[in-house]
Amino acid sequence: MAQVQPNGKVALITGASSGIGRETAKQLALQGYHVFITCRDFAKAKPVLDEIDQCSEQTAKAEYLALELGNLESVKACAKNFLSLNLPLHLLIANAGVAGAKGLTDSGFEQTFGVCHVGHFLLIQLLTEKLQQSAPARVVVVASKAHRHAKGIDFDQLLKPASSLGAIKEYSTAKLANVLFAKELARRLFSTGVTVYAVHPGVVATDIWRKLPKPMSKLLGKFMLTPQQGALTSLHCATKPQLAGESGFYYEDCKVVQSSPAAQDLALAQQLWERTELWLRSEI
Ligand SMILES: NC(=O)c1ccc[n+]([C@@H]2O[C@H](COP(=O)([O-])OP(=O)(O)OC[C@H]3O[C@@H](n4cnc5c(N)ncnc54)[C@H](OP(=O)(O)O)[C@@H]3O)[C@@H](O)[C@H]2O)c1
Repeated sequence: MAQVQPNGKVALITGASSGIGRETAKQLALQGYHVFITCRDFAKAKPVLDEIDQCSEQTAKAEYLALELGNLESVKACAKNFLSLNLPLHLLIANAGVAGAKGLTDSGFEQTFGVCHVGHFLLIQLLTEKLQQSAPARVVVVASKAHRHAKGIDFDQLLKPASSLGAIKEYSTAKLANVLFAKELARRLFSTGVTVYAVHPGVVATDIWRKLPKPMSKLLGKFMLTPQQGALTSLHCATKPQLAGESGFYYEDCKVVQSSPAAQDLALAQQLWERTELWLRSEI
């Protein structure tokens, strides 16, 4: 058990009901952050809040905010609910994600892209002013090494349900979008005091693999990290003082590494930003 001293910082993390996000949220709360845990269902957040309470003898501060990233009304409500609290925001971790998902989100995007990119894009747009007011502040985008499999973005496919086996191709595209988004956001927030990091957490034993074909998840199971290990790179980018001057880079194993050539394509990053803005023009 650890008595927690508040550090005066506020963090919001998406997808903190399980896996990497749950562990990241717990560690941040134990480091003294006032943590907002988002997911779709309070029943799934409650055990995380209870665990944080238990580990800290109720001295850590963690709260729940409802968020369905596939539904733009829910994203707007989440941002509004957070802003209504009149708190600063020093850290936003865009962690939530899905893999192997078929169909479209409520907002009409390919499911994985809609959750991983579009929902986070809108949430971050709605909270950017707050991040700037709270600077120094950080945005960590949990992407994936899988972004390397996507050589570009076919924008027409993003409005259609996944068609590839296990939606693997769509997952790679969504994760490429995460890395490009982080790069473009860093460029747009240059010298505002808000810095941005894209992260690959490693291959981690979490619920995200549940929809993959069995042979694929079995093979991956041989190499998987624990969620505690999987949270390390997110925590590194979220908290290490020496990273305060870095922005727009991609990290694996707590180190900057080169992202794929497509993920470094600044014109593509800008095109993705502008397309997303256009899709969301009535929401922002
Ligand atoms: N595990 C890996 O090996 C691995 C590798 C590379 C990258 N990643 C990335 O790491 C991140 C975390 O994944 P994980 O492995 O920890 O998976 P996980 O255990 O399945 O957690 C995913 C989280 O995302 C949330 N989520 C899913 N769909 C959502 C939606 N429509 N709206 C709001 N929240 C939603 C889930 O919350 P609910 O309770 O609402 O379902 C859950 O909290 C993802 O972005 C993933 O792509 C994971």
